[in-house]
Amino acid sequence: MNYDFKYHLSRRGFLAAATGLAVYASLRPVVASVDERSIKVAPSQARLTGQDGPATAVWTYNGALPGPALRLRQGQPVRITVENGLDEDTTVHWHGIRLPNAMDGVPGLTQSPIKPGESFVYEFTPPDAGTFWYHPHADSLVQLGRGLAGPLIVDEREPVAVDRDLLWLLQDWRLTKDRQIAGGFGSMMDASMSGRVGNMVTINGQAPKDQSVRAGERVRFRLANASLARMMALRFEGHRPVVLAIDGQPCEPHEPEGGRLVLAPAMRIDVAIDMQGDPGSGHDVIDDFYDGLAYRLTTLAYDKPPPLRAHPLQAPLALPRNPLPAPDLPNAVRQEIVLQGGMMGGGKLAGVGGMMGMSGMMGMTMPGMNGAAAWAINGMSMTGDGHAGMAPQFTLERGATCHLTMRNETAWWHPMHVHGFSLSVLSRNGSPVPHRQWQDTALLAPKDVIECAFVADNPGDWMLHCHVADHQMSGLMTVFRVT
Ligand code: C2O
Ligand code: CU
Ligand code: CU
Repeated sequence: MNYDFKYHLSRRGFLAAATGLAVYASLRPVVASVDERSIKVAPSQARLTGQDGPATAVWTYNGALPGPALRLRQGQPVRITVENGLDEDTTVHWHGIRLPNAMDGVPGLTQSPIKPGESFVYEFTPPDAGTFWYHPHADSLVQLGRGLAGPLIVDEREPVAVDRDLLWLLQDWRLTKDRQIAGGFGSMMDASMSGRVGNMVTINGQAPKDQSVRAGERVRFRLANASLARMMALRFEGHRPVVLAIDGQPCEPHEPEGGRLVLAPAMRIDVAIDMQGDPGSGHDVIDDFYDGLAYRLTTLAYDKPPPLRAHPLQAPLALPRNPLPAPDLPNAVRQEIVLQGGMMGGGKLAGVGGMMGMSGMMGMTMPGMNGAAAWAINGMSMTGDGHAGMAPQFTLERGATCHLTMRNETAWWHPMHVHGFSLSVLSRNGSPVPHRQWQDTALLAPKDVIECAFVADNPGDWMLHCHVADHQMSGLMTVFRVT
């Protein structure tokens, strides 16, 4: 059975059938012309609970929720025209892609915002294959919260030996009883505690239905958490997922600790799962990140046909590495980022199930009130979204290795995201991090200290912020410069 061929067919055969150009396309040299795409940002409606469910007013890319999956080729230039059909400014940030600073989509810092009715052309060449995503970086809390997010997949040069390649873009919604997006964005409660965690999770824009699988097949799942604030820890009951890549960057294939895939906002994890269940059986996928609030996300539902193959696929799991520059640790420049602020007594989920203990409220002025800062980095609160005049916290010479320590002095979890680079994660609380992990979004538990390193090979002013949108807006954001 030639799995490779089948996989090829499912992905590329479709285009061939549709256009009749496949032979021509496959004979062309790889250094190809510019791939042209266009995206229109506009209000629309979505039926989150299925075709007979109520319509929810959302904001979309090309009318779709989530936005269309941009499937790009490693090393091929792309030009994406973004047209703004909203009543407010927007931008698009290509999360995790290493690209020129002017294409990074941060209003005020890397470009002027795209005004209503105007367009902006983004041009870059993705250097890395992997799972990425795109989202606005203007009025982020509201725009992301109203649905603006889409997957961006950069394919490996050679197809990977799996039977199927499935994407789950996870979004968390705070809906009212009549299934509309609740107002109250940026409340003090959300800002200074766990962020705006919602009450409904969708997979690819839909309340999850069962995921049908075939016994014996190997599936690559690309898991992406595009939520504003909800942390997730997914367990595939009865299965042993193997982590292939984190934040788009291949790592040494390994089983996650305790079988839990911890996926904070903005993080992606690629896993391979050999479907070893019995035909006709069902196995739940559980998210148990928050204590006492575990829920069933979906169920792997095995089709009736007999297994596709008698033994799991023997093909190697390791993905080809991306061309990341190797940090020069002995000569590294040291920088430290200290996360401060928030309510005391964190860790619980406020506003949904858990209620904050009173002790957290006592004896403190209310952070985050009236749009004020709730958080700080190294004593400084940069609030809102991208804007002009954001002074860099530190400056690196181009080509230098930066050894960055991130110290979480708060009582809350923070997925810290760096623009323009991928971080080699060296240690957590003094213990080395195994499996050669590179991440653009590193999750810090309360009081965690993470050490990481990267080569400052890309000039410009780059953002570094918590990806819990409320936290970013209320001060957990900074900028550094590469000259
Ligand atoms: Cu995904 Cu600054 O963001
Ligand atoms: Cu980013
Ligand atoms: Cu945070």
